[in-house]
Amino acid sequence: MSRREAVMRFQVHHYETVSSTNDLLKAMTGAPEFTVIVAEEQTAGRGRRSRSWHSSVGDGLYLSLLLCPRNEKARLSLLSLAAAISVAETIREIPVRGVDIKWPNDLLIHDHKVGGILIEGSSIGGQVSRVIVGIGVNLNAKSFPAELAETATSLFLESGKLIDTVLFRDNLLDRIAEWYAIWNLGENGSIIRAWESLSSYARGRMVNVTTDGGEIAGETCGLAEDGALIVRTPTGKEHRIIAGEVSRLRASV
Ligand code: BTN
Repeated sequence: MSRREAVMRFQVHHYETVSSTNDLLKAMTGAPEFTVIVAEEQTAGRGRRSRSWHSSVGDGLYLSLLLCPRNEKARLSLLSLAAAISVAETIREIPVRGVDIKWPNDLLIHDHKVGGILIEGSSIGGQVSRVIVGIGVNLNAKSFPAELAETATSLFLESGKLIDTVLFRDNLLDRIAEWYAIWNLGENGSIIRAWESLSSYARGRMVNVTTDGGEIAGETCGLAEDGALIVRTPTGKEHRIIAGEVSRLRASV
């Protein structure tokens, strides 16, 4: 299937204002796989860890996509990595330089957040999952509210280029179609390798990870086969991180 044919499988529904594209898609219980909701603004955009997502009109792409994978609960973490790869590749293709991925799926440029992914799922009879992949990318924001000003950036602020939202959306859906096909084929190694090649956090980065079980500080040593982040502490013990918040540890002088 060509990239263009792949993107044609998506049914894109466009809205001016919604509370959250994820919430709207979740409420569309009969929607078929590959339904896409895009909004120009969200009044209650949500991020991971119950955070809100800045979603002012004209500032970004706010998109949710429905996928219905079968019997794949165990590999959903790899799907989340594949979504991050898709966004990073779309940004590089513009081209905007310097895009990075912080595990598992934060999109950064120069250590500032430019995009994020919120994956929410439920299963139907234990067989087919309904997975909502919510993607927010700061495209043309020229400034951010005070509480985000130190940590967020946009493609416009990084490159000086105004980004065509529809073109970005279509290119992103092309990439997602490709990586979803790779994920469906079970080519986990391709996903791991692509993610590692796009992320400065993959290896040799000193990080702190906040997990439900406490804090782990150490050096990143790549991804395990299931997408877990391997962190080696100074004692040499390797931890497999399957959930947690990664932050960069700056070397003390
Ligand atoms: C994160 O915290 O990094 C994830 C942010 C995800 C934001 C997107 S915007 C489109 C979709 N709808 C939402 O309410 N959230 C996601």
